[in-house]
Amino acid sequence: MLWVKAFHIVFMVTWFAGLFYLPRLFVYHAMSDDATSIERFKVMERKLFWGIMTPGAVITILLGLWMLIQGWTRYSNVLWMHIKLVTVGLLVLYHIWCGKLALDFKYDRNSHSHVWYRWFNEVPVAFLVIIVAMTIVRPF
Ligand code: HEM
Repeated sequence: MLWVKAFHIVFMVTWFAGLFYLPRLFVYHAMSDDATSIERFKVMERKLFWGIMTPGAVITILLGLWMLIQGWTRYSNVLWMHIKLVTVGLLVLYHIWCGKLALDFKYDRNSHSHVWYRWFNEVPVAFLVIIVAMTIVRPF
């Protein structure tokens, strides 16, 4: 089971690499007005979202669920795991929102400013701190 946990963390890092980098690309994309840069950002955003971020999310969650099911009696009634799973659920919604925003940029219908994306880029930090704190410190 330790190999499962090891790869759970490896793919979690992959997922967060995308969660931190994609909104940063959105910041620069929202500031761009030349066609070459705009087309380059569209390609980078699509490859990052579908090639790295989404596989990272899917494998992190599948390996996490594997450990959860194996240790169900241990994890099912501990508050730290409940808080972790609710926070991961919100993180999945944030991930899907990133996908929708990438589509808006693809079809040149983005409606947010680069300042808005700078704040949007900070959100995953809070998720990472809460999830890792719950899983490692287990305060409840
Ligand atoms: C549905 C999604 C997830 C499920 C079901 C899940 C479940 C689990 C389980 C059952 C463990 C083993 C805990 C133990 O050692 O007893 C674990 C470990 C861990 N998870 Fe997740 N996890 C999920 C998503 C995440 C995410 C998104 C992160 C990162 C932000 C994360 C970070 C960790 C870490 C750091 C450990 C190692 C904890 C340790 O060794 O003490 N997990 N996870």
